[in-house]
Amino acid sequence: MTADLVLRNVLLPTGRRADITVSDGIVRHVGAAVRADETIDCTGYTCLPGAVDMHVHMRGGVQAEKEDWRTGTVSAVAGGVTVVVDQPNTVPSLTTPELLRARIREAEEQAVCGFAVNAGVVPEADLAGMWEAGAMAFGETFAAPSSYGEGLSTGALKEVFSRIHALGGLTTIHAEEVSGRAPATLADHDRARPGEGEARAVEEIARLAPPGMRLHFCHLSTAASVRAAHGTVEATPHHLFLSHGMFEDGDTRARVNPPLRDEETRRALWSCWERIDVIASDHAPHTLREKKVPFETAPSGIPGVETMVPLLMVAVQKRQITLASAIEKTSWRPAAILGIPRAGFEPGDRADYALYPDGITRIDSSCLHAKCGWSPFEGLEAVFPQEVIIRGVRAYAHGDLREACPAWYPGQGYLSPQN
Ligand code: DOR
Ligand code: ZN
Repeated sequence: MTADLVLRNVLLPTGRRADITVSDGIVRHVGAAVRADETIDCTGYTCLPGAVDMHVHMRGGVQAEKEDWRTGTVSAVAGGVTVVVDQPNTVPSLTTPELLRARIREAEEQAVCGFAVNAGVVPEADLAGMWEAGAMAFGETFAAPSSYGEGLSTGALKEVFSRIHALGGLTTIHAEEVSGRAPATLADHDRARPGEGEARAVEEIARLAPPGMRLHFCHLSTAASVRAAHGTVEATPHHLFLSHGMFEDGDTRARVNPPLRDEETRRALWSCWERIDVIASDHAPHTLREKKVPFETAPSGIPGVETMVPLLMVAVQKRQITLASAIEKTSWRPAAILGIPRAGFEPGDRADYALYPDGITRIDSSCLHAKCGWSPFEGLEAVFPQEVIIRGVRAYAHGDLREACPAWYPGQGYLSPQN
């Protein structure tokens, strides 16, 4: 047998070194190598399973000036992410099976890595229709208004929760409380959408959801919210690595929902590392032109899919977190929560990997691949992957995309047309 690809000298999580043989996108053998069409020597690299970023806004359509499936997924791959899960607050928002199918077609034509698409959650949405059309999960469900998302009332939340529970789907929640006037500074923005309000919203959701319902809390930004959550917990790199004091007061680029918090709150979020199930980027790019308006009217959202794992790899190299925990939270847990086959080091695993060198560089937005061309993480330390493999194909090497490897991952309610 000749395999498609062999990864030589991979340092496995067990500490053993082995060769990984891949054919048809799947790991076939771990041990001594067989002959292969392509071989990559992994000596000197840390080999991670490809990350599953379960919270991105790939934009496209009428929002293609901000990002599109091509640029957004090239950016993902350049950051070691091989599957992205797109949020449904597109324009128009995804509320029907027809719109969902059109979104999947748009991704199939442009994406360069694996992808899935979530269903929009508003009372008038055809939730069952989208579930059968292959929606991965439901939401993010807005429990408070945000950019391109209207907050649902308590009654509406209760009603959509029971419909999703009956389908057996996963509900993903954007939990916040919003008060006061339009904020004029980052600190105002933090006060208008306070951490305490986020924790209260998290508790309220638990009261509204039917018992046993599968809940996933998106982008929790404080330790209190993480502790209050009944369900799986997601945190973002921006709430872990950035606080609003790192920016000028009126810097609209750092405006995001939930807001960046103060330094003490940021550090406290790290203390919950063990309880955080998933790190996801909430990649939500806006153009600099859109951001260059008075703070009160600036859109919320920042890019981050490409810098997520590279930022965490610095924490791994500095021994602030373990490599195993980074793999768990960026790849294995999100795949398990969503029901996507896992990428890894066992026969039968999906052969998605990213190879990270030893040695730290700094984030330079002119080297990133997202369309918006800026990053709130500019200048921070990072470790970027040198090689990315998607289903056994060498998709990306040393800064350049070599091959597009799109693949759609449908959700568990999918009824394919021949069924
Ligand atoms: O800051 C945000 N921007 N938070 C969200 O929940 C939505 C996102 C966007 O789509 O721009
Ligand atoms: Zn959100």
